[in-house]
Amino acid sequence: MAVNPLRPVILAAADSPRMKAAITGTKITSDIVRRFVAGETRRDLLPVVGDLLGSRRLISVDFLGENTTDRAQADAMVGEYLALITELAAAPRPDLAGIGAAPVEVSVKLSALGQALPGDGPAIATANLRTLCESAADAGVWVTVDAEDHTTTDATLATVRELRPEFPWLGAVLQAYLHRTEADCAELSGHGSRIRLCKGAYREPREVAFQRASEVTDSYLRCLEILMRGAGYPMVATHDPVLVLAAEQLVAETGRDIGNFEHQMLYGIRDTEQLRLAEGGMAMRVYVPYGSQWYGYLTRRLAERPANLTFFLRALVSKS
Ligand code: FDA
Repeated sequence: MAVNPLRPVILAAADSPRMKAAITGTKITSDIVRRFVAGETRRDLLPVVGDLLGSRRLISVDFLGENTTDRAQADAMVGEYLALITELAAAPRPDLAGIGAAPVEVSVKLSALGQALPGDGPAIATANLRTLCESAADAGVWVTVDAEDHTTTDATLATVRELRPEFPWLGAVLQAYLHRTEADCAELSGHGSRIRLCKGAYREPREVAFQRASEVTDSYLRCLEILMRGAGYPMVATHDPVLVLAAEQLVAETGRDIGNFEHQMLYGIRDTEQLRLAEGGMAMRVYVPYGSQWYGYLTRRLAERPANLTFFLRALVSKS
């Protein structure tokens, strides 16, 4: 079976400016955006953060934005993250017996910090990330760097490698659909290394990525086993019940401490399962995006699940 037959079509169509104008220009969109995005501003975000922490869930907050095209945009992104870290530092923390993880984390895309700027983009993004990490260290907040399309993987992992000696809690995301990821997991499963393992959400060519759902799941299982048997801190980022169960089985098999790995899911997806894991004593972190640049994030969520798109199109048709 293909990953899902509509996925590449939706992701390709999403790149069209006409599609973007059609989706962002309609009021109907706001219902489905609200399901996946905590709001457009920090003011919208903070009550959501309070509710999640209050239900014993950990959080990772993402200020939406990607593919920054000029230096001023990258600087503005850094400014928003610094303000965000200050506000998150003041949020009441849950009582997490047996779990040593920082309850509050931010997730960041290096393309938003200037990685693709001409010339010294990767160096600019690295310097910007260092600024965020310094502030996060003072605030007791962790940072994880998101994974974007495969053309950025080497540069992103190089940035994480450069900064980890200074900020040992700096996390990285690996995408199981990439052929290279098993080797990356083996290399990055050392002591303290925080790796968020996800399936992968971008449109990637078959030369670099598995295309079939079953191949992606099998790759995820192989990668997960490497991370769970390693000395690092695996972050199991999936809503897939098969993989959630596999993680629990590997934890039992390897004798991994319950405080030494995390389940992670996206805001708005499988909320009941999130609560079951959190109430069962697990570290369950929710990735919470906010901001007005939600288009890329939303289209990846629509592409993952045709039912989301059907819901959206039905709403469009019934209101038109
Ligand atoms: P799968 O897509 O098979 O979904 C399993 C089940 O989960 C579905 O049957 C459904 O019940 C539910 N579900 C999944 N997606 C849904 C949706 N959109 N709407 C409604 N229900 C849905 N990707 C990336 O390329 N770079 C990154 O940095 C990250 N970061 C990241 C962080 C965290 C915390 C998570 C959980 C995920 C990411 N991702 C990501 C996204 C990831 O690559 C992947 O696209 C999604 O998690 C969906 O894959 P699943 O593993 O959940 O399986």
